[in-house]
Amino acid sequence: MPAQPSLSFIRKIQSLVQILQSHDYAYYVLDAPTISDAEYDRLFRELQDLEREHPEAIQPDSPTQRVSGKPLDEFEKSKHGVPMLSLGNAMSIDELRDFEARVRKVIDAPTGADIPWFAELKFDGLSINLTYENGLLVRAATRGDGEIGEDVTLNIKTIKTIPLRLNTTQPPRRIEIRGEVILFKKDFEALNRHQKESGQKEFANPRNAAAGSLRQLDPSITATRPLRAFFYGMGACDPHAEDKTLPPQSLSRYRETLRSWGLPTFDQICKTTHLSDLEKFIAQVESVRDDLPFEIDGVVVKLDRLADLDRAGFVARAPRGMIAYKFAPKKSVTLVEDIIVQVGRTGTLTPVALVTPVFVSGVQVRRITLHNQSEIDRKDVRIGDHVVVQRAGDVIPEIVESLKERRRGDERRFQIPDHCPVCESLVERIENEVAVRCVARNCSAKFRERLRHYAMKDAMNIDGLGEKIIDQLVDEGIVQHLPDLYKIEKQDLISLEGFADKSASNLVQAIEDSKQRDLYRFIFGLGIRHVGEATAKLLAQVYGSIPRLAQALPESLTAVDGIGPEVAKSIHAFFNDEQHAAETLDLLQVLSLKAPKITEGGALKGKIFVLTGTLPTLSRGDAQALIEAHGGKVSGSVSKKTDYVLAGEEAGSKLEKAKQLGISVIDEAQLFQLTRQASS
Ligand code: IVH
Repeated sequence: MPAQPSLSFIRKIQSLVQILQSHDYAYYVLDAPTISDAEYDRLFRELQDLEREHPEAIQPDSPTQRVSGKPLDEFEKSKHGVPMLSLGNAMSIDELRDFEARVRKVIDAPTGADIPWFAELKFDGLSINLTYENGLLVRAATRGDGEIGEDVTLNIKTIKTIPLRLNTTQPPRRIEIRGEVILFKKDFEALNRHQKESGQKEFANPRNAAAGSLRQLDPSITATRPLRAFFYGMGACDPHAEDKTLPPQSLSRYRETLRSWGLPTFDQICKTTHLSDLEKFIAQVESVRDDLPFEIDGVVVKLDRLADLDRAGFVARAPRGMIAYKFAPKKSVTLVEDIIVQVGRTGTLTPVALVTPVFVSGVQVRRITLHNQSEIDRKDVRIGDHVVVQRAGDVIPEIVESLKERRRGDERRFQIPDHCPVCESLVERIENEVAVRCVARNCSAKFRERLRHYAMKDAMNIDGLGEKIIDQLVDEGIVQHLPDLYKIEKQDLISLEGFADKSASNLVQAIEDSKQRDLYRFIFGLGIRHVGEATAKLLAQVYGSIPRLAQALPESLTAVDGIGPEVAKSIHAFFNDEQHAAETLDLLQVLSLKAPKITEGGALKGKIFVLTGTLPTLSRGDAQALIEAHGGKVSGSVSKKTDYVLAGEEAGSKLEKAKQLGISVIDEAQLFQLTRQASS
């Protein structure tokens, strides 16, 4: 094996890396594999073999160096000198005691012997790895997958509290310093106010806001965000030989060093050899948690001496000599603005409290399930109540209790309705069960089907509103009627499984875009029995608007060529159904549908009509609108210029005059006929 890899050897490795990367890109990013798994594995093994031969030729971006996950491709990748690990958790004081006993054992400390401990806050932000070379900040990287992060140097440099040069005359050759980038609560609130005012998306919590700000591709945007950071850890350290202070003997000493170099550290710490002091520190921090200017999610307890930490070693990529003590779920108080009922796939009616948005353990909560009537009764939750909210196991928000002492007398009790809010049919109370169910055949399924039809490509064409998402929207009670679609906000979607910021924005935009569809697509989308796309087009051409179509009597409808009695009956029935009529009206409030284009040179273009008598179905206004919609004009008196006299019952002198002048006299049915010709 040659001492140095040859140039062609390196080129070979580089080319393999490139090929594999392009396949990775196609597979992971584009979701469109370009080769078989077997072929990929073969190339991968070939690269591994070459790299084993010459580890010095391993490319920093070689796919063999990827452990799991991968940073987005917009930022440069940056490999950490020493991996950034994670921490084990303790959820209770008992678990903390177990941890202490475990550590005592692994580091071989005799019972009774003092172990120096160090504890500090667990900042709830984004971990960052700074590299200083000869005192100069040369690189900053996010954690990434622990091995490789994203190079956010330019963005980090905009954080004014981070020194660009260490404040020391004796800097190490190279050192990695670890900390957490955060956003203070007040800055987070100001940022969200600004986002809202400028019509941009709001962040769910300070951590997301910090991450979003740091991961801006444009550093000038990051510069406008008042990010901060606190430092607590060390990665690689390469001191000068004569430097006896590095690496430090203990974390507490190291912290002093960081501080002296000008790096921000947080004052509230605990240095002790007694477990009981650690417990007190945790309790004390928890009691001031809400008063801190930033979010924390616990306390990190660490062996102070580096020698002890080394001896304790690692388990599952976490140092065994450290633990994150996580606080009990945080409780918040908010107001129940309303209680709504959602109907699940099986028809179960579930009451859901809509509360004034509130942060619980760092996540904004707006909807909280109340499960069933007996739960509401047991907790006595009323509309208008202030309630204590918590996230159980930091996941599902729940109402712990209602604050009776804050009632003012106008709170309203809630009772699950007797009728299904979706289909209005009587619900059933299942014996020996608290659940109430809508047993109407296919109630909710029917609605899902309607929604699916409405969103279809040939109807309102709402891109991205597929079956799975429809299920989620209906199950969550977000969409119970078609008009609810247009009330969806991005925030509603982000809380659903499988939604990311981008996909939520896209769907909201697609729904917005659907407001401007052609009228016929909407008529088709309503899902009126027997009204297919062709019939919808016909109706749009003839009636020109939904209110006109909705008022049309079956006789008028059958007068349209191509509409038979059964179709006419179904259309009439649809718009005479109270629920459908109300729903359609609501939709029209938000939609700006495009009326059909009248064909250039159609039969009514430039034609002058005179109306006389009472028409069987159309009012005079409707008849005029219909004529005008098709390019014709209506005049008040008959002259030689008149093309048609539209005559109904009890037509008067105008009809006489038309006959004298030999002008065509038509009835309503013939008018429909003409408009039909005009638009075909
Ligand atoms: S020490 C081996 N100290 O918590 C990792 N971590 O859950 C050493 N964190 O990735 C971590 N505040 O980003 C440490 N005072 C603190 C911390 C802290 C926040 C984060 C850190 C780490 C994560 C692990």
